[in-house]
Amino acid sequence: MLRLILAEAEIERVPESIAGHPAVVKNAKKRGKRPGSVLLDANLHHSAMRNLTHWERRGRPDLVHAFLLLALDSIANQRGELEVLVHTRNDEVIRVSPETRLPKGYNRFCGLMESLFQNRAVPDRESPLLEIEEMGLPELLKNYESAGITVLRPEREIRNLNEYMRDTGLREHTFVIGGFAVGDFQTDFSHICHTEISISDLLLKVWTVTSEVIVNYEIISDLH
Ligand SMILES: C[S@@+](CC[C@H](N)C(=O)[O-])C[C@H]1O[C@@H](n2cnc3c(N)ncnc32)[C@H](O)[C@@H]1O
Repeated sequence: MLRLILAEAEIERVPESIAGHPAVVKNAKKRGKRPGSVLLDANLHHSAMRNLTHWERRGRPDLVHAFLLLALDSIANQRGELEVLVHTRNDEVIRVSPETRLPKGYNRFCGLMESLFQNRAVPDRESPLLEIEEMGLPELLKNYESAGITVLRPEREIRNLNEYMRDTGLREHTFVIGGFAVGDFQTDFSHICHTEISISDLLLKVWTVTSEVIVNYEIISDLH
């Protein structure tokens, strides 16, 4: 069993403080939405975002989209061996059912996530494919301490993922990948039982790291 947690993912609705900015209002109007109900997107709201703290890393729903597309379509997921979670910068956790068929197009994905933030579950609460709840990263990770938590970080000891997973001797693995393109984790991991490793001396993109973990897991678990 492989669990992937995209952590501190830069996905959120437009904060109230910039909901009246012309760049935000114009874009929301074009989509027939309230400014405060749309996803913050660095591509669209760049000029408005300069007034936000940590503005240079925020507004990246595209990273979540790429992560989920890759994970949900993987062999590991199709074999029932993958669990996918997204923890957001505002301490929400999105649980994603393995059966979710995610929109391939980015605009439709944003519409789906906006509906999730609004209704807390999609398509409905009775049989949700996506659900969101308030939860910090340490609280989430405490559930998986016995399942070998690995935080992937640049500039740590470089490990070959295949050997690393085999060496743990575990059947269950939990990998934490940063859901941001700039900066470092804000979380203090010191009270969480975990290991930090790098998989290369290169700074890699979220989707590259995600695919490396999934494929190595599929190989050691003989899932092909
Ligand atoms: C684009 S990086 C974020 C960049 C950021 N400067 C940092 O230091 O993490 C996104 C995530 O990919 C993972 N990552 C990127 N390069 C990595 C590497 N060489 N080894 C392990 N994980 C890596 C980490 O989980 C990181 O948080």
